[in-house]
Amino acid sequence: MTYLDEKQIYRKYMEFFEVAERKRRWSVFDDLPWELAEGLDPDPDAVLCAETFCAVESYMPDYVGEGLNLVRESFGQAWWHVNWGYEEAKHALALREYLVRTGQRTADQMVDFETGLLNRRWTLPFTTVRRMVCYGALQEKTTWMIYRHRLAAARAAGDALLASIYRYISRDEAAHGGFYLDVIGTCLSEDRDGTVADLQHVLTRFTMPAYDLVPDYEERVRVMRAIGITRKIFLREVLLPILGRLGVDRRELARAAAAEAAAAEAAAEAAAGAQGGQATPRTRA
Ligand SMILES: [Fe+2]
Ligand SMILES: [Fe+2]
Repeated sequence: MTYLDEKQIYRKYMEFFEVAERKRRWSVFDDLPWELAEGLDPDPDAVLCAETFCAVESYMPDYVGEGLNLVRESFGQAWWHVNWGYEEAKHALALREYLVRTGQRTADQMVDFETGLLNRRWTLPFTTVRRMVCYGALQEKTTWMIYRHRLAAARAAGDALLASIYRYISRDEAAHGGFYLDVIGTCLSEDRDGTVADLQHVLTRFTMPAYDLVPDYEERVRVMRAIGITRKIFLREVLLPILGRLGVDRRELARAAAAEAAAAEAAAEAAAGAQGGQATPRTRA
C-alpha cells in the first residue's frame, strides 16, 4: 500500500524532474574548479568531514536498491528515486575526487575505504512508504543543513574548491528535502492523523543514515560535534522549518506520541495476559 494519490505523485515528480533537468544539473567534470586542487592544504577536520560525507553518500547502492523495491509499484516515486540516486552518486563522486585530487587520500586508499564500507549493508530504517517519506524529509533537510555549515566553513578557510562542491551538493539536498515535504503534504491531506503519527514515530527514532556503518564512527561524531552540529541547531534549522512548512505543530506531535505510547502499553498488557493464560483484550481511544 502506498497511501498516495498516484496522479499527484506523478505530477510532483514531473515538476521536480523538469526543474532538475532545466536548472539544477551540474557536472563533476566541468563545473568544479579542479585547478585549485593542486597545492591545497586543507584542515584535517575538514578532510575527515568530507571523507565522512563521502562514506555516507557511498551507500548509494543500498539506498537505491532498498528504496526502489519499496516504491516499485508507484511510477512517480520509482522514477523519482532513480533520479535521486543519480544525484546522490554524483555527491559521493565529487567528494571522492576532492580527497584524491588534493592529495589527502590516494586512489588505493579510497578503494580500500570503499571496500570496507560496502562490506556492511544499509537497510531500510522503516518498512512503510509513508514512514520512509517522513524519514527522507528529515534526512535530506538535515543533510542540507550540514552541507550548508560545511560550505560556510570551507569559504571561511579559503577553500574555494570544497566550497563549490558543497554549494552544488547542498542545492541538490534542498531540492530532495522539498520533494519529500511536498509528498508529506499530500499524505496529510489524505490522512492527517495517520501521517502525523508516522512523522512522530520517525522523529523519535531518527538517526542519520549509515553513520554507524562507517569505520571510526566515534571519532567522526566527535569532529561533527566539534564543528557545531548540535541538537539545538537541528531543532532550529531542520525540525521547526519542516513543521512550519507542513503546518503541523508540536502539540499535534505530542498527542500522537501519547497515543503511540498508550497503544504500546495496551499491546504489552495484552501480550502479558495471553502469556499468563488470561488474555484481557483492551481497547483504547
Ligand atoms: Fe547527497
Ligand atoms: Fe539527498
